[in-house]
Amino acid sequence: MNYQHIFHSGNFADICKHFSLSLLLSFMQKKPQGFCYLDTHAGFGCYDLKSPFAQRSQEYKNGIGRLWSNGRVPELFAEYCAPVMALNPESSLRWYAGSPEWVHYHLRDQDRMILIDSESEAIQSLKTRFVSDQRVIVQQGDGYHGIKSFIAQLQKRSLILIDPPYEQVNEHVKIIDSLRYLSRHCRQAVVAIWYPLKQHRETSRFYHKLKELEVPKILASELCIYPDDNELGLNGSGFIVLNPPWQFAEALTQLLNQLLPYLSDHPKRRCETMWLSE
Ligand SMILES: C[S@@+](CC[C@H](N)C(=O)[O-])C[C@H]1O[C@@H](n2cnc3c(N)ncnc32)[C@H](O)[C@@H]1O
Repeated sequence: MNYQHIFHSGNFADICKHFSLSLLLSFMQKKPQGFCYLDTHAGFGCYDLKSPFAQRSQEYKNGIGRLWSNGRVPELFAEYCAPVMALNPESSLRWYAGSPEWVHYHLRDQDRMILIDSESEAIQSLKTRFVSDQRVIVQQGDGYHGIKSFIAQLQKRSLILIDPPYEQVNEHVKIIDSLRYLSRHCRQAVVAIWYPLKQHRETSRFYHKLKELEVPKILASELCIYPDDNELGLNGSGFIVLNPPWQFAEALTQLLNQLLPYLSDHPKRRCETMWLSE
């Protein structure tokens, strides 16, 4: 296993994922009742964009780098970027927040957070960051197993993020198996899945499998900075939500349309939200 998120942290796909996650969180927090957030593939709490790894790929320049200018981001996105602004109080951009940090920034007293990752370095970083916070559990292991072992906590109100590296050919199968398990044992859980948009036919296959699940509402969103028949690599960012809160779909559509011109200049850039089941 050699996936290291530092190469990709802060890129356009991270921005789409973290903005969509923040929006989802704000909808969950419209209700005063607490909820449990489970991050199955949490990664590090935050990433150093000045590290040799981030500097080698420079992917962040095509993401947060397009929004950030001298310690400011466009007014439209200021609220979304608050966790990154908090990490960089000076005007220069050095630190980028991982998904645990984006959620932790908004966590209320009544909310809980469970962070899982298989890599010991990521776990060490999460423990260091959140050790003094009683609301947070950090556990090393397999994220899909984590869903099962923490099912009792998830059965109340929950938001689950599944964000694997997609380096194994059976990743989609593991996701579908976990969603099937959740649809039986935790029907009301709000589940978000990030996925890469590379070739259209791969995405269609994944959508087909999602449609076979017995989940009443599944929303898919896509933001492509290049056309998705481009064979070069990552063309777009996908974000699926099972059981999205009321009116979340409209808000996400608006957000992605606002983001698109900032993240891509390509004439065939596009974004879309669609119901896979409704
Ligand atoms: C895409 S990164 C996560 C990024 C993070 N969610 C964020 O948005 O900042 C994927 C992470 O999954 C971890 N990982 C890989 N296989 C895993 C598994 N089976 N269970 C849990 N974590 C795993 C990797 O160590 C890596 O940190």
